[in-house]
Amino acid sequence: VTSNGDVLRQATSRDRDAVLHLWASLFEDADAPVHDSWADSARGWFTDSVGEPDTARFPVIEVAGRIVATAIGSLEIGVPNPWCPRGRTVRLANVFTRPSHRNQGFATMLVLDIVTWARRISADRVDLSATAIGQRLYDKVGFVRTSAPRMKLVL
Ligand SMILES: CC(C)(COP(=O)(O)OP(=O)(O)OC[C@H]1O[C@@H](n2cnc3c(N)ncnc32)[C@H](O)[C@@H]1OP(=O)(O)O)[C@@H](O)C(=O)NCCC(=O)NCCS
Repeated sequence: VTSNGDVLRQATSRDRDAVLHLWASLFEDADAPVHDSWADSARGWFTDSVGEPDTARFPVIEVAGRIVATAIGSLEIGVPNPWCPRGRTVRLANVFTRPSHRNQGFATMLVLDIVTWARRISADRVDLSATAIGQRLYDKVGFVRTSAPRMKLVL
């Protein structure tokens, strides 16, 4: 709880529609493909994941009873390698603060909460794809550019 009474807490199943709404705002800002089916899938995924504190984390910031910022950490198990010796990577996603509540340190608090959780669950690293606007924040908390470019094959 900050001096203003703002609260960082973990989302519960009751927060499903509120977090979904914020995630949708995130994709409106981006040049996202138009597929409405993602929201139903995300709702189901959230319901399944929210009770799994060893594999997913959903910190939110609440101001006057309303969620104004969200972020997601989810554990991905892959093949161990020298850069990821246990094969445990936390993916950081959907970092979003309502425009009216930006520049108060909320996104930074959520990212640090997920990094602390990632250490606790013995993850090797935290990966993310940064937007141009998000890069500064990640630089500040210690993220570095990867040398290998990310690639995808959309199916
Ligand atoms: C990127 C985004 C999540 C940042 O959210 P935010 O809550 O405003 O982030 P923070 O407040 O933690 O940090 C932003 C700035 O506020 C500053 N700040 C941190 N704590 C502060 C405080 N207590 N008071 C005032 N400013 C503060 C930070 O230093 C930072 O300044 P900088 O840009 O000069 O480095 C937000 O702009 C957003 O939702 N953008 C659209 C979605 C997006 O691009 N998300 C990133 C996905 S990778």
